[in-house]
Parts: sequence; structure tokens; C-alpha cells
Amino acid sequence: MTARTARTERTERYGDEIFSHTGKDERDRLSALADVLDPVSVDALAAPGPGSVRRCLELAAGTGSVALRMLDLFPSAHVTATELDLRFLEGMRGERLGVLRHDVTTDEFPEGSFDVIHVRYLLHHLPDRAEVFGRIVRWLAPGGRLVIEEPALFSLEAARDEVYRRVSLGALRVLADRIGTDCTDWGLDLPRTAAAHGLTGIGLRTTVPTVAYDTPMGRFWRLTLDHLGPGIAALPGVHTDDVPTVLDRLSRPGFIEMGMATVTLTATKPAF
Ligand SMILES: C[S@@+](CC[C@H](N)C(=O)[O-])C[C@H]1O[C@@H](n2cnc3c(N)ncnc32)[C@H](O)[C@@H]1O
Repeated sequence: MTARTARTERTERYGDEIFSHTGKDERDRLSALADVLDPVSVDALAAPGPGSVRRCLELAAGTGSVALRMLDLFPSAHVTATELDLRFLEGMRGERLGVLRHDVTTDEFPEGSFDVIHVRYLLHHLPDRAEVFGRIVRWLAPGGRLVIEEPALFSLEAARDEVYRRVSLGALRVLADRIGTDCTDWGLDLPRTAAAHGLTGIGLRTTVPTVAYDTPMGRFWRLTLDHLGPGIAALPGVHTDDVPTVLDRLSRPGFIEMGMATVTLTATKPAF
């Protein structure tokens, strides 16, 4: 059983049930993801880029950690942080920080509104991701920079622990079936997608974090597998005790494996 087999029609959207911000561990899960990836995101955002950065957009900001880092990275800029669910961004507004409820699949910004746009771990969950990518490029000002970060499952396929591999790929199978998530091709195709939209100066970094009981990726993955456990257990080829076995291994010293990879793409919209 892999996450690569053809997917059926999705039955819900991100946040309806799966990964709802009302879930008991969802804030912790997103904080763990931020602990894994914020240093990578900050590196990508801090690389020399557009001369003067006055307008930044953090799409699907989650807990808002990157939006806050943008305030430091771009001291002359106004940062707009958007989310479908603003629950974890409450109290974050400030003189240079706007918080906006915005559905990236339907809500617009005027063309050329932002000098820097960052979006992490969102488009792979959206079935209309290709169209959304095109709209994000339109929102970028000429000369502006896009940083987009998405997961890729190849490192999970290479994991040595068979039960961990089966359960981890099972989690991505559940997401593909229920909300239309693509952790297989979308992230790896980002350089081609960016080039096809006329973006230049394309840079790529791939990060494969360690999963163990005391790493941020270990925490993120344990909470993710716990959340999706019943769906994973119902998949063909998954044994009854697989999910509890992996959750137990992720909760104690001794287990160490590769986690899901993240592809970080930086690209620039030509000035003319
Ligand atoms: C996996 S989380 C990533 C959060 C944050 N970008 C990060 O990397 O820490 C995906 C986020 O996208 C938000 N989201 C889902 N669908 C969205 C949509 N259509 N428009 C805007 N945000 C959306 C969710 O509420 C959730 O906070």
C-alpha cells in the first residue's frame, strides 16, 4: 500500500474535520511544524532579493510565526497575514501587521500588491492548487519574490522501519482520498511550475528532518498520525496494531528515522 495509487473524489476540505483548528492538539501540531521549518523559511526569506520590501504577504499563516519573523526581516514593510481560520492569530494585529480572513481559493488581492509572498504547506492540500499558484503569482509585484514550501513524500518511501513507512504513507493516502492532498508530485514539480509561470532566479532547497521522540518533526508527525489514526487503520494492508505501534515508537527514545521532506522554492517575478 502506498500513497501513490489513484485517488478517489475528495469528501471534505482542509479544516472541515481533518486538521480543524478546533481539534485538541492542532495548535501544538502547527507549532511543531513551525519549529521544524521556521529556520528554513527565514533563511529563504532573508536571502538577497527585492531591493525595497514594503509589502509582505504570509498566506495561510497558521500560528503566525513566519509573519512575526517577517516583521524583523523587513523592518520597513507592512505584513499581511491571511488565514481561513483566524483562531490561532487572535491578538496578533499591530501597526505593521494586518490579519485577514482570506480563502486563497476564492478571495483576491489586486495584481502586483506584494513585494514578498510566503506560503508554506498549503497548496498541496488544495485540489485547485495549479490555479491558486497562478493567482499568487499575479499578486506579486514585478521584481517581487515568492517563497513557497511544500512537502514531498520520497523520504518516507525510503524509510527503513517498515511499520513506520506503512503508517506514514497511509496518512498521506488518507489525506489524498479525503481532501485531495498531493504530497507526491506537486512539491517536486515546483521549479517547473514556477518556470512555466515566467518566474526567474529559481532556487531550490530540500530539507529532510529527523523523526524521533524529542525532535520537532517527531512531535509533528506523532500528532498528525494520532489525528489520522482511524483512517489509516481502515486502509487495506494496514494491520490493527500498526498505528499504536508507531505512536508508541514515536513517544520514547530509541526510534530514529527520516521524516517527510520539504521543498523550499524561491523565485522572482521579472521586473519587466
Ligand atoms: C498545514 S497548515 C500550515 C500553516 C502554516 N502555513 C505553517 O506552515 O506553519 C495549513 C493552513 O492553511 C489554512 N488553510 C487551509 N485552507 C485554506 C484556504 N483555502 N485559504 C487560506 N488558508 C487555508 C489552514 O487553516 C491551516 O492553518
